[in-house]
Amino acid sequence: MTTSVHAHPGLNRDNATSSPAVQAVSLTKNYGRGATRVSALREVSVNFDAGRFTAIMGPSGSGKSTLMHCLAGLDTADSGQILVGGTDITALNDKQLTALRRDRIGFVFQAFNLVPTLTAEQNITLPLALANKATDTAWFDTVVSTLGLKDRLRHRPHELSGGQQQRVAVARALLTRPDVVFGDEPTGNLDSTAGGEVLALLRRSSREMGQTIIMVTHDPVAASYADRVVLMSDGNLVGEIAEPTAASVLAALGKLGG
Ligand SMILES: Nc1ncnc2c1ncn2[C@@H]1O[C@H](COP(=O)(O)OP(=O)(O)O)[C@@H](O)[C@H]1O
Ligand SMILES: [Mg+2]
Repeated sequence: MTTSVHAHPGLNRDNATSSPAVQAVSLTKNYGRGATRVSALREVSVNFDAGRFTAIMGPSGSGKSTLMHCLAGLDTADSGQILVGGTDITALNDKQLTALRRDRIGFVFQAFNLVPTLTAEQNITLPLALANKATDTAWFDTVVSTLGLKDRLRHRPHELSGGQQQRVAVARALLTRPDVVFGDEPTGNLDSTAGGEVLALLRRSSREMGQTIIMVTHDPVAASYADRVVLMSDGNLVGEIAEPTAASVLAALGKLGG
């Protein structure tokens, strides 16, 4: 699972764009049936290149969360394929999916989801401990110093600010060197200063560490930290923006009526 792409911060940006880290092929998902049937995803096909930071945007109910949950193996599609690091996750059984989520996917949620009784360091290393893997101390030091957490490692979550707690969650997601980190409104509970810091760190982790990041957000400013925005509307992928700015994202959302 460990590739040289992650070993040397800053060396991977140029060769990181050739292969998709995550691929959806003709994903379809419906909820309910008959008159109450909702098409949450309508044959959505999209690639997410390795080392890139992508934001998924669109009006409420457009299918963003459903797409992210299917890509992350947290929900199943009705049809279509999902490839994570070349593995077709739609072919895996529950046990294999659980292992894949643990070993190859990182998550940063709106609620920080830290274990309150553990220190920051213990929270960061928890996924490796659960997987019975040793911590790569050099990589741990790189992640922790990049995220500015060196002098916070012995603190418990309640002794940290919201922004610091979310940085711990980002460190935890990066430490396993996953194929992809998924963020679901990762700055939704932070004020704009702390949110900006977390977003800048996510951007740095993609630029300097080659980390692939896919983030759902409704905030055009948050999306402007990404390399690319993909736009959803009514279960379809309806466009994308390269090198987004808050203004270009707002304008595109305006056209969607979102
Ligand atoms: N568990 C569910 N049961 C029924 N309908 C759902 C469920 N989850 C999502 N939906 C519907 O699927 C569509 C897409 O939802 P969602 O992916 O949550 O959109 P978004 O994240 O863009 O707001 C919406 O119409 C929503 O009401
Ligand atoms: Mg949603």
